[in-house]
Amino acid sequence: MEYRNLGSCGLKVSALCLGSMQFGWTADEATSHDVLTAAFEAGIQFIDTADIYSRWVEGNAGGVAERIIGNWLKKGVARREQVVIATKVRGPMGEAVNDQGLSRRRILLAVEASLRRLGTDYIDLYQLHWPDDETPIEETLRALDDLVHQGKVRYVGCSNFPAWRLMQALWTADRRGLTAFVSLQPHYNLIHRAEYERELEAVCLEYGLGVIPYSPLAGGFLSGKYRRGEAPPAGSRGESSGRLKAYMQASRSWQVLDVLQEVARSRGATTSQIALAWLLQRESITSPIIGPRNLEQLRDNLGAVDLALSAAERERLSEAGAWREA
Ligand SMILES: NC(=O)c1ccc[n+]([C@@H]2O[C@H](COP(=O)([O-])OP(=O)(O)OC[C@H]3O[C@@H](n4cnc5c(N)ncnc54)[C@H](OP(=O)(O)O)[C@@H]3O)[C@@H](O)[C@H]2O)c1
Repeated sequence: MEYRNLGSCGLKVSALCLGSMQFGWTADEATSHDVLTAAFEAGIQFIDTADIYSRWVEGNAGGVAERIIGNWLKKGVARREQVVIATKVRGPMGEAVNDQGLSRRRILLAVEASLRRLGTDYIDLYQLHWPDDETPIEETLRALDDLVHQGKVRYVGCSNFPAWRLMQALWTADRRGLTAFVSLQPHYNLIHRAEYERELEAVCLEYGLGVIPYSPLAGGFLSGKYRRGEAPPAGSRGESSGRLKAYMQASRSWQVLDVLQEVARSRGATTSQIALAWLLQRESITSPIIGPRNLEQLRDNLGAVDLALSAAERERLSEAGAWREA
């Protein structure tokens, strides 16, 4: 496994981060623990989760993925200091008006609940899941800064922030002497390009932010298991996800997949591995967050780490999914 600095900070993270959105959703606890163990044994020490995973599953109150990770840590496969745990706050964790958002009150309560579920006394990277337009950014940053000073959080980052909000947060932290974001977690893959490439990428490069893109396989579309004009395979995310259905209806997604399949065939690799390798080798990217729901998918995804694409292959793939202004 390769280890990289998370942007310009000193923290080293594995080149692949293990996501946990599928824990308690498409992977039960036993399978999730197997995936965590196999990933750790393969050198992945960076784990991404969120308080709301997987609250959308009927009967889940939220916090399920954090609890599954906490239970895995208790097994002692990895010592706490051997792993880098990233979690998030922002989404609704209850019905009351203050059970969501990025107010000082919410953050101070949410962090305690995440620490309890994870069974740890510090979070390595505490991320804002998406912006809260109804809370001043200074209030949010001050709460995060207090958590860093209290030793409950080591670094802070954000996800799903547009470039102007990211700049506003960096500027506010600088002006007020508060802890600044070290990372961004954007939605980014070979199909979903413009949101990150238009402005965010330049901000991250200029200000030295680590970038940990989510949905690197477009929710599984880039694994190549979906077929033009056919129903999604039974049990796949494509059966329920609106985003995947949209990918399946867009001719551009299939064009990207065609090129991906050609490159994969010529390299004797899978399309997932090529799609991940393309991200891994992009200058601004630190660590794509993979989301395997079983050991087979994990093993496949791991094969991307040692797969060096040529400049011509990278260029071809970039061109296939390039976005253009209308
Ligand atoms: N910040 C945010 O707002 C946000 C949003 C989404 C995700 N995330 C984070 O990012 C992580 C990854 O996101 P993601 O799950 O969308 O990533 P992804 O890599 O785009 O999709 C993962 C899914 O693709 C399918 N898959 C993976 N490898 C495969 C293979 N070799 N063959 C066939 N199918 C394969 C599986 O779905 P099926 O088998 O079920 O079809 C798997 O659960 C999450 O766990 C979470 O930690 C963050």
